[in-house]
Formats: sequence, C-alpha cells, structure tokens
Amino acid sequence: MTTNRNKQDIIIFDTTLRDGEQSPGASMNLSEKIRIAEVLEDMGVDVIEAGFPIASDGDFESVNEISKLSKNSIICGLSRSSKGDIERCAEAVKPAKRGRIHTFISTSPVHMKFKLQMDPKDVHQAVIDSVTYARNFTDDVEWSCEDGSRSDHDFLCQTIESAIKSGATTINIPDTVGYAMPSEYANLIKMVMNRVPNIDKAIISVHCHNDLGMAVANSLAAVQSGARQVECTINGLGERAGNAAMEEIVMGLKTRQDQLPYQTNIDSTLIMKASKLVSTITGFSVQPNKAIVGANAFAHESGIHQDGMLKNAQTYEIMTPSSVGLTESKLVMGKHSGRHAFREKLIELGYDLGDNAIQDAFKRFKNLADIKKEIYDEDIVAIVDDAIVRKYDNISLQGLEVLCGTEHRPPKASIKLDIEGDSKSIQMSGDGPVDAIFKGIKEITNMAPKLQLYQVHAVTQGTDAQAEVTVRLEEKGKTVNGQGADPDTMVASAKAYINALNKLLVKREKTLPTSLSA
Ligand code: KIV
Ligand code: ZN
Repeated sequence: MTTNRNKQDIIIFDTTLRDGEQSPGASMNLSEKIRIAEVLEDMGVDVIEAGFPIASDGDFESVNEISKLSKNSIICGLSRSSKGDIERCAEAVKPAKRGRIHTFISTSPVHMKFKLQMDPKDVHQAVIDSVTYARNFTDDVEWSCEDGSRSDHDFLCQTIESAIKSGATTINIPDTVGYAMPSEYANLIKMVMNRVPNIDKAIISVHCHNDLGMAVANSLAAVQSGARQVECTINGLGERAGNAAMEEIVMGLKTRQDQLPYQTNIDSTLIMKASKLVSTITGFSVQPNKAIVGANAFAHESGIHQDGMLKNAQTYEIMTPSSVGLTESKLVMGKHSGRHAFREKLIELGYDLGDNAIQDAFKRFKNLADIKKEIYDEDIVAIVDDAIVRKYDNISLQGLEVLCGTEHRPPKASIKLDIEGDSKSIQMSGDGPVDAIFKGIKEITNMAPKLQLYQVHAVTQGTDAQAEVTVRLEEKGKTVNGQGADPDTMVASAKAYINALNKLLVKREKTLPTSLSA
C-alpha cells in the first residue's frame, strides 16, 4: 500500500491484466481476470492495472468488477487524454476502495509527429487538461509520458512539471519501445529528479519493455536513481517482447539487499502460483530457463553442481526454491483418503470452495485415484482448476472414443456433446486423433474458428500424469484460450477445444448459432 511509505519502499504496479493482455493471443475473460486479480491482491501488489476501460465493454466490465472486489490494492484503469476516455475510466474504478486513473499521451518527437499528428504545444496543453479533468474524479492520478525515454529532455521536464501542477501524484516515465540501456535510463530518472522543481510532490514510476532484454535491468537501475514505483507483469507478459517481469524485480530486490536496499510488499512465496495461473490462462508457457519461474530455475543437472548442492545448497543456489513458492511435489493422498482430508487439502492449497464444488472435486479426485497411483498437489490443483474453467460452459463433453494406431487408418473419433441440454453425437475421421476430435466438434457445433495454438503439458512426471491442454482459437479477429485437464490426453484436448468454443460464444455476445440454439 502507498500510505505511510518509507523512503526505501517500492510500489509494485502490476499491469498483467492491461499491458500483459495486449500480447497477441493473451486475451482473458472476466472470470479469468478476476482469478488473476485475486492472486495479485493476495501477493500484496500495491496497484493493479485492471484494463483500459474505453477499449471495449469487456475491458470496462473487468476493471469495474475487479474494483468492486478489491480489498487492499489500488485498482487502476488506463485512459488516453480525452474527456471520454477519462470519464469511462473514472466510472470503471469508482467502486474500488481506492481507485486510480492512469492517463497518458506521447511526448517523443516521433510519436507526436506521426502517431498523434500534434504540435508539442498542443500535447503540453492536453497533459494539463487531461490531468486536471481526471482529478475531478479521484485524487489518485498517474500521468505517463508515452515513449518518455526517447523524448526531448526539456520538453519532458516541462510536461512533467505541468502534470504535477495539474494534480498528478504519480509520474510514469516509460521506456515504451524497450530502447534504453540501464545507465542511460538511470541518468534520465536522475535528470528528471534534478530538473523538475516540483518532483518531490509525485512518485516517479518506471515502465520498461523488454525489446532488448533490458526491462528488468532498466527498472532496477531506475530504482537506484530514485524511482519508487515499478510497473511490471507476471512472467514478463506484455506488448511485443513483454514488460519487466514482476518475479525478477521482486526477487532481484530481495536477493541483493546489499546492492538494492529497498522493500516491496510482495509475498514472494505466491510467485509460482501467480506464474502458473497466468501461463495456464493465457496459453503462454514459461520457457524452462526463465529466471525465477522456469522449470529449470532451481534444477541442478551437472554432477559437479549436484555434488556441491548436496554439500551445501548455497554453492549453486542464490535463492531458496521455497522463497518463490516452489515446494517439493507433495504426495497427497491415495484412493483411501477421505472427504475431510480432501477438504483440508483444498484449504491448504488456497481454495475456498462451496459444498457442491467440494463434492464435485472430491468425486473427480476419487476417479483420478482409481487411474493414477500417486496423487500430488499439482493433480488436485488441476482437478479443481478444470472444474472452475468449465463452470459456465454451454457446451460440454459427454463422451469420447478414439480409434488410432497402425491398425486404424485414418484415426476416428466418436464424440458426444451436451449442447445446452441437447445431446448430439458424431463420428469423424482425421489426419490424426486430435484432428479427428477437433473436426468432429466443429461439425457438431457448426463453428469454424481457426486453430492458432495446441499445447500439451504434463501436470506431474510419469506416463500416468494428467495432461493439461491449451487450445487457442480465433474467429473474426477475436482470440480465446481454452483449457482442459484429464489423465487421457485426447479427453483433455477435447475439453480444451470445447472450453475455447464456449468462450467464443460468449464473445459473440451470447448469441448461439442457429444450429446450437435449435
Ligand atoms: O509502454 C507504454 O508506454 C505504456 C503506457 C500506456 C504506460 O504501456
Ligand atoms: Zn507498456
């Protein structure tokens, strides 16, 4: 939280739901955004940028709903400098306990000339007008000079001074195109601190893109120069090469207190949970060697390293796996475990489910225990998440049988779906079993979206592991991600495809194709 701040406190501003969602293919629906916002709140994120309310009704709704549910975090909406944008943003964040309007306009010569087609004088006036107008709705106004790192220094200082005079309480200086180098960006922040006379009345924020892989280095260099808010995203999601990764900022600060004596509010033990949730929802898998959250980030393969680790973990580990929430896969329970123990396990894993949902999850757990000898925490998470994902689906899988292998050419799938209470079946052949399943589902539902991504991931190790499948579909420029989990990869694939179709139907503003509503 930003109240009672210490000089060394760093405000963590998460923009996974806004800048992160701007990554092509990373679109999220309302319930997914709420799930992510809840984890961000639990982590102690100071400011959650929940969306860009003027961009679409969906964006407005998510900022508005997250505002209603907010507890401690400030909920922020983005807006350009026009009155209409600011009003929409103000309305969206109104229910928040603490709401912020984040308004921006470009200040670099190239953006002003070609993108805005405005004179610097008019841009300067727009800064004053937009911030002044935003202050009518809230006293928490952030102003960003888009492409700040490529802006003329004199002009940058004039606009920042005017923004603060007009009431901005946070000044964000983005490296919008990821062009800056750490020492250069640190000097830019120092220059602003030295030259803008009223800079002590605002918090300086940084927002770095990763086009040259410098986003985290630039953000931390800026902190050393006096920036006290860092804008970042889980897994570094974001436009083009992404934003500064929150987990790297937080663990960089935590691990190198000797160099970076600053504090954040973040409970780092929730980092893995947030990372996993964002990658599952968006279908953006985390590269194995990604810092902090990659599957190999704490793995030690070479004999020399393993030997060192056995003698003393500090030989090769600068952070403990548990500090980011990575615990040994815990063996949970077997098929004889009871309902009570299962309920306790759900609570331990952070799920707060109603009686019916627990009942349903318990049934699925028992079914899984019949198939799979050893059940881990990750299996329970997959079971429960799968049920959450499917809660509002109009189309569901009732049955699936697949014939494939050397003796069955071409592969065939028999599929039975429940479409709003009606049972429909089809048999379909395809180039492979997955192709047969997807073709069959398309045929029954009379939908023909383009498949953009099909991704399978094993929840745990071993050949009996549950498969977690992500399917990304595109229809008329709208993209959705569907998820499915099951010990049978073909069933998980069908579930993921159907989940994506359900989301497309919602995107079509809940109008079912005639064949479906019949
Ligand atoms: O990258 C950028 O400049 C932005 C601004 C809107 C803050 O995302
Ligand atoms: Zn950005």
